[in-house]
Amino acid sequence: MGNVFTRIGEQTDGYPLFAEEWEEKAKEILPAGPFGFLQSGAGDEMTLGQNREAFRGYDILPRVLRDVSDVELNVELLGQTLSMPVLLAPVGYQGIFHQEMEIGSMKAAAEAGIPFAASTVTTASLEEIATAAPKGVKWFQLYWSNNHALTASMVTRAERAGYQAIVVTVDTGLLGWRKRDYRNGYSPLKLLEGAANYVQDPVFREMVPDYSEVHIREAILESIHHPNLTWDDLLFLREQTSLPIVVKGILHPADAKQAVDLGFDAIVVSNHGGRQLDGAAASLRALPAVVEQVDGAVPVLMDGGIRCGADVFKAIAMGADSVLIGRPYVYGLTVGGQAGVRRVIEDLRTELQLTYALAGVTQTKEINKAYLLKR
Ligand code: FNR
Repeated sequence: MGNVFTRIGEQTDGYPLFAEEWEEKAKEILPAGPFGFLQSGAGDEMTLGQNREAFRGYDILPRVLRDVSDVELNVELLGQTLSMPVLLAPVGYQGIFHQEMEIGSMKAAAEAGIPFAASTVTTASLEEIATAAPKGVKWFQLYWSNNHALTASMVTRAERAGYQAIVVTVDTGLLGWRKRDYRNGYSPLKLLEGAANYVQDPVFREMVPDYSEVHIREAILESIHHPNLTWDDLLFLREQTSLPIVVKGILHPADAKQAVDLGFDAIVVSNHGGRQLDGAAASLRALPAVVEQVDGAVPVLMDGGIRCGADVFKAIAMGADSVLIGRPYVYGLTVGGQAGVRRVIEDLRTELQLTYALAGVTQTKEINKAYLLKR
């Protein structure tokens, strides 16, 4: 806990301190298009708002007079040790936010000892990201292609590049109704900012013989949209790799059951940061029923609205094994590249350590529902 006390009374160095301040700074830096793409949600942003609101529905009931001089944030997840129960969520197109792209985020995660999940639609290719931090824990997030050969090729490349898990995102068969992006006339897809993994793929190159920008863009869009995808297709993925497969984007307990029954290795309770189905349940509210259904068979992660140490604590108390953060670290990347992401992670770590200590716990596994009071 040493570093916490040495910082008391120090002046800040001008970096933002709160999630909201990072967001404000990022807004000053970015043009309206990219900022809107990053910050906004789908539809009327009901789900985006609910993701935050849900955390206000619970208060922490701390325990006192326990020895909390030694707080351990470490957790084990899918055979890896994480320095705290937090991962960097897959966020595509990071080149529109900072020139260091996903490389900056990957390096910051690696030095912090937490996993980075690289999106399918990254500005740097999955191989470049892996090479930038060979020792870092990295997961590859798969946007299913309607072309099985392309899906298989990407998974094989990820495995070969040293990724330790595949995250398959299942809430994105069609793109959500993102009003802000329509208003701004902005989509990073149009700019080919997320095309690296496609243009470097041998199967994709065969699919797109006429290698013009227009055709690449059309082929990516067509390949990503897959409203006909079902659980049967996911079984194909199971056969493609021996890596653990994490299913991201589950809210309904019956779907969680399906994922476990079909042999998948972890679940992320998520509504894509409120960017897909507007009106969908807040992740935190959907979490308990999924945890109950899964009953310890596989790890259950969650994301959506995590902004501070108390949020992480509450999600764990509701049954999450770990959480992911999306926008917060990308605001950090926007403001300061790798150093900005590092700062967001380390401030969250400091706050989380204090939250554990002040709530009276010294290890993640001690945290349970008895530490929460519903409002
Ligand atoms: C995302 N998210 C996302 N998810 C995914 O599986 N693949 C992707 O490529 C992306 N891309 C993406 C871009 C941007 C700009 C955002 C904000 C989000 C969703 C992401 O992984 C995560 O589920 C949410 O961001 C979590 O919510 P918070 O932490 O942003 O509230």
